[in-house]
Amino acid sequence: MNGNWIAIGTIDDIPLRGARCVKTPQGKIGVFRTAENEVFAIEDHCPHKGGPLTQGIVHGKAVTCPLHNWVISLETGQALGADEGEVKTIPVRNIDGHLSIMLDSMLVAAE
Ligand code: FES
Repeated sequence: MNGNWIAIGTIDDIPLRGARCVKTPQGKIGVFRTAENEVFAIEDHCPHKGGPLTQGIVHGKAVTCPLHNWVISLETGQALGADEGEVKTIPVRNIDGHLSIMLDSMLVAAE
């Protein structure tokens, strides 16, 4: 994939089972840290009605939207269970705890 890696700080900036919202030219991106110290990045915009996923509860490799409790996979961006919808996933890189996300033209085209 073509794109640029953008440094977004370190894993320690994100609470365990938490998230932070990174504002980019391509919109708000939620960067999530799981209990296993895995890091995922998805759009911070619930596919239901646009709720702020970074304010949701992280469990396993998913986040529950704070507004109406849709559960979104951090791996695929897909809504889980009976709900249908998805958000884009963003490539994220973790090198010795230093995180970068890749911004690409696909996100811009989707808006
Ligand atoms: S906006 Fe996320 S569940 Fe409704």
